[in-house]
Amino acid sequence: MVQGMLFFKLFTNLCFFIPKFAVSENDSSQSTSIPNGNLLNGTFASRFGERPGSRNDSSESTSVANDKVLDELIPPEFDERSCLSRYHSVLYRKISSHKPSPLLLSKLRNYENLHKLCGPYTKPYNRTLKRLKSGHVHSTTECKYIVWRPDNGLGNRMVSIASSFLYALLTNRVLLLDLGTDMVGLFCEPFPNTSWLLPMDFPLRNQFRNSELRYAHSFGGMLEKDRINILMKSTPSYLYVTLKKRDYELDKRIFYCDQNQALLGKVPWLILLSEQYFAPSFFLIPSFKKEATKLFPEKETVFHHLGRYLFNPSNQVWRQLITRFYDAYLANAHERIGLQLRVFHANAAQIQTVMDQLLACTLKKKLLPEVDTRNSVASSSKNRTASKAILVTSLYSEFYRNLSNMYLANPPLTGEVIRVYQPSHEGYQHRGDNKHNMKAWAEIYLLSLCDVLVTSAWSTFGYVAQRLGGLKPWILHKPGHGIYLPCKRAMSMEPCFHYPFSYDCKSENKLDAGNLVPYIRQCEDRELGVKLFDDHKELK
Ligand SMILES: *[C@@H]1O[C@H](CO)[C@@H](O)[C@H](O)[C@H]1NC(C)=O
Ligand SMILES: *[C@@H]1O[C@H](CO)[C@@H](O)[C@H](O)[C@H]1NC(C)=O
Ligand SMILES: *[C@@H]1O[C@H](CO)[C@@H](O)[C@H](O)[C@H]1NC(C)=O
Ligand SMILES: *[C@@H]1O[C@H](CO)[C@@H](O)[C@H](O)[C@H]1NC(C)=O
Ligand SMILES: *[C@@H]1O[C@H](CO)[C@@H](O)[C@H](O)[C@H]1NC(C)=O
Ligand SMILES: *[C@@H]1O[C@H](CO)[C@@H](O)[C@H](O)[C@H]1NC(C)=O
Ligand SMILES: *[C@@H]1O[C@H](CO)[C@@H](O)[C@H](O)[C@H]1NC(C)=O
Repeated sequence: MVQGMLFFKLFTNLCFFIPKFAVSENDSSQSTSIPNGNLLNGTFASRFGERPGSRNDSSESTSVANDKVLDELIPPEFDERSCLSRYHSVLYRKISSHKPSPLLLSKLRNYENLHKLCGPYTKPYNRTLKRLKSGHVHSTTECKYIVWRPDNGLGNRMVSIASSFLYALLTNRVLLLDLGTDMVGLFCEPFPNTSWLLPMDFPLRNQFRNSELRYAHSFGGMLEKDRINILMKSTPSYLYVTLKKRDYELDKRIFYCDQNQALLGKVPWLILLSEQYFAPSFFLIPSFKKEATKLFPEKETVFHHLGRYLFNPSNQVWRQLITRFYDAYLANAHERIGLQLRVFHANAAQIQTVMDQLLACTLKKKLLPEVDTRNSVASSSKNRTASKAILVTSLYSEFYRNLSNMYLANPPLTGEVIRVYQPSHEGYQHRGDNKHNMKAWAEIYLLSLCDVLVTSAWSTFGYVAQRLGGLKPWILHKPGHGIYLPCKRAMSMEPCFHYPFSYDCKSENKLDAGNLVPYIRQCEDRELGVKLFDDHKELK
């Protein structure tokens, strides 16, 4: 075990500290960490390929080095340097065992062409904008759009962007994002030779904050004011659609009812506000169900594929935050354990409750070793075959402090080397803060590189991490909603749709979206939510 020896020499002491993320204004000084020439070259790969662990590194890193097209999801036209993470992520995590379907791949390639054709400031875009000013359209336009607007925290936004993109794929719309001021520079452009950013001079921007105007031009608002006849006669050039957890019930009813999709399909500009993972609904709405199912024969992989396709860290986030942290603290551990601890209504007692839960879960499920309070022989001799890096992500530092104190005071019974890290502890969720979101995105990504994950119920932050990593985490229950103690294993990789529609379009009665088809069922962490499961699971 050469690797074990090397490792033993490097880390004979337990040491704990909070390595901090640092975001500098620009990353021109980082060039030393970027290899020159062929970036996917063998030497570079082996640097990371040496990481110990269960994967068979030697065979994988060679295949990475020899195979320029790393992942079929990557559009072939891209320039590697514009987005290092897209090409280098395979050096940090296992190649996904879930393959995108050929149909999904061809759909993506077609979408990329459509986006290039219709993207910002193209001729068709300019023409469609003109019609926007006239208010109504009388003939069909060549390009149609869905404009996504930000709402809630980063995790919510990412699941909602992915859902909007699936809608765009299914309806041949072009997805444009209004990133606001606090999501700038997080992601690479996902589509080659064009942009997914909504131009700053987009004419309706000045309406976005005006809820009355938004309501007057919403699908629900039009229906309520009995203007549906107007709607039937001439198609408006734009409509607002709001799919949020509360309010806008009418928008939700309309959007999720199949008979309205044809009408909605004619409107050139849809402006969507949602903080939900509404992608599962397309597996129920009759006009989309067939195609959605064909695109994703493995239903649990919707976010896994779309998320990996859409969300690649920008070079700044990748170099300054993710790889720098990973290489320094996580790369050499035999096992990386990610803990994502969300405390709702945080106070000392709540934090304590979550701490108790966390220890009960990780010790009971043997994710973390128990400590040796009697200093027996086993633990005093170091265990050369095992070391664990614990990555704590939380707004608070209590969990990190507790775990590091615990392992500092008493060695683990297994004699392993345990190291605890927390990249940031921001204290509270900063809204409207770009740097905060960069750190949050880096933490999500680092969690996705872990081998084992423990996440908090109801947290979209954890959902995104697990799905990008293709992991099935242990979920801590939400205190007060204790249907399982202290944690349980997720059955499906998919994010939970927290507030699914609950209205039957035909009978107009209430319905339970988790009871309609076998592959959409109640989430593990939330009774009211539903998520996608693979078909074969229902046989068990
Ligand atoms: C940003 O880059 C410029 C040169 O490109 C350099 O002069 C400046 O000091 C850098 N700023 C930071 C904060 O690194
Ligand atoms: C790395 O790539 C460049 C290009 O092939 C080559 O000159 C150098 O020797 C290679 N080393 C590796 C990486 O192959
Ligand atoms: C790695 O994979 C190769 C080829 O598949 C195999 O021959 C080798 O034994 C594997 N090594 C380990 C350590 O599993
Ligand atoms: C679209 O309009 C913008 C300005 O509104 C202009 O700069 C651009 O050249 C136009 N695009 C084309 C293809 O004409
Ligand atoms: C896309 O842009 C790159 C760089 O700007 C350029 O080299 C390439 O030819 C373009 N590809 C297409 C298909 O336009
Ligand atoms: C860690 O938390 C547990 C459970 O809340 C508590 O019993 C223990 O005393 C704490 N340990 C340290 C070192 O803070
Ligand atoms: C070393 O650690 C591994 C992993 O936790 C464990 O399975 C093994 O039993 C430990 N060895 C000893 C001698 O305690």
